[in-house]
Amino acid sequence: MPAISVQDLRKVYGEDEVALDGVSFDIEEGEFVVVLGPSGAGKSTLLRILNGLTEPTEGTVEVNGEEVRGRRDDVAMVFQLHYVIESMSAYRNALTGALSRAGLLQSLMTWYDEEDKRAALDALETVGLLEEAEQRAGSMSGGQQQRVGIARALVQHPTLLLADEPVASLDPKAATEVMGYMRSAAKDRNLTTIASLHQVNIAREFGDRFIGIRNGEVVFDGDGDDLTMEAVDDIYYGEGGDDPAEVLEA
Ligand SMILES: Nc1ncnc2c1ncn2[C@@H]1O[C@H](COP(=O)(O)OP(=O)(O)O)[C@@H](O)[C@H]1O
Ligand SMILES: [Mg+2]
Repeated sequence: MPAISVQDLRKVYGEDEVALDGVSFDIEEGEFVVVLGPSGAGKSTLLRILNGLTEPTEGTVEVNGEEVRGRRDDVAMVFQLHYVIESMSAYRNALTGALSRAGLLQSLMTWYDEEDKRAALDALETVGLLEEAEQRAGSMSGGQQQRVGIARALVQHPTLLLADEPVASLDPKAATEVMGYMRSAAKDRNLTTIASLHQVNIAREFGDRFIGIRNGEVVFDGDGDDLTMEAVDDIYYGEGGDDPAEVLEA
């Protein structure tokens, strides 16, 4: 059984805004998949459907053999914009990942058990921020804040980690660093991961597998060796398009 199975996904917004058009793929447990594609291709729509935040118009998504209907505790998401609470420490932010599993009373009291506290410290260590655990998130760099976001997602104990353009607002050095932590966290935990990225060079360094989306359709599915300049060109500009160098520099 694949960890994720996507069958004939179609998403139409409103009357006729077709965002996804017959998307199908399976992903095995522990795979680190990067979704590539130009702006408007349908990447965010795909990730939101996988996370149960958006309902598909047609088609199904199964996570561990169960059809996704609405939000699931075992699916965690890292967003592009900083979702950390600036006034709280890195540690308190990481702990909030446990809230999705906690009972109502527990979450109202913001009370966490020992296991959650250990998980938060463990996750901060995984993203290289154990020393900064008590630092206020708002005083951290963009890259550090994004690592706090990853730590929080890990504390949720997900079986699937989704990240929608997690490094889009970072400079290349910080972006590479954050992706490195995300990948090693995923590999340590054998955590299936799907991240959308628009920086092809950074994507190439981290993906086990690449799914290229263009106009709501899968136009590429392969590993790093298959992802040639020509393949990148096809994903971004369509067959017979031009100037892959522009994309690679982005
Ligand atoms: N909430 C929405 N309502 C209407 N159209 C939308 C909505 N979200 C996305 N779209 C449209 O669907 C298409 C795919 O968008 P999106 O999934 O955000 O692509 P990407 O993340 O690859 O840039 C685009 O044409 C976009 O304008
Ligand atoms: Mg998007």
